[in-house]
Amino acid sequence: MELNIPKHIAIIMDGNGRWAKKRGLPRTLGHREGAKSLRKIITHAAKLGIKHLTVYAFSTENWKRSKEEVEALMFLFKTYLKGEEKNIMENNIKFTVSGREENVSESLLTAIRRLEELSKNNTGLNLNIAFNYGGRAEIIDGINRLLKEGKKEITEEEFSKYMYRDIPDPELLIRTSGELRISNFLLWQIAYSEIYITDTLWPDFDEKELDKAIESYNKRDRRFGGVK
Ligand code: IPE
Ligand code: IPE
Ligand code: MG
Repeated sequence: MELNIPKHIAIIMDGNGRWAKKRGLPRTLGHREGAKSLRKIITHAAKLGIKHLTVYAFSTENWKRSKEEVEALMFLFKTYLKGEEKNIMENNIKFTVSGREENVSESLLTAIRRLEELSKNNTGLNLNIAFNYGGRAEIIDGINRLLKEGKKEITEEEFSKYMYRDIPDPELLIRTSGELRISNFLLWQIAYSEIYITDTLWPDFDEKELDKAIESYNKRDRRFGGVK
């Protein structure tokens, strides 16, 4: 059977801390291992012909974590941007970030903008990293933008254009590490996404696990409120 490959997959990359704890390692090492998982998944997603991959890397609530952990995550993202530049350009990947700039350091913002600019004409996979991202923040930011423009009334289609990125809604939402919640991810866009939750911790999530999620998606009966 020919598999139906989603155009947009969104992933809540959760469980790095637990992965490290299980091994008696510091949480930051779990995040480092998680970054390796992301690299594998990007390559595989591109190979499968997925058009957009949105991954949740840092939420607007993650600032509540210890200073050490927050700093480690910021440092890891910056290192990641540097380390992935070659891979991104060689594989024709378009890199984008969704999130607020507030509280993010100037040097990190500069690195983000640089890679966005460098890869903006790439036509392969769009890797969209949700960083300092909150679903409610995104909706509020959209509303404030349209109020500034003096809009009085808009449609759902128009409102979608006020989200951070003008990309189609994800058909499939994956969450690793078994938590049964959305944690403020893509609230507007997941209205009709199929949800796949696995107990596998993010650092253990590999190509086979992504295939399993897509196979599960292929078995879903998507009715969108209608009757089949
Ligand atoms: C996901 O892993 C990464 C981020 C939220 C930055 P966690 O750090 O949430 O890992 P757990 O949930 O504590 O295991
Ligand atoms: C969601 O995971 C955020 C990211 C994966 C970046 P969290 O670990 O922060 O979510 P909660 O606290 O379990 O809801
Ligand atoms: Mg977590």
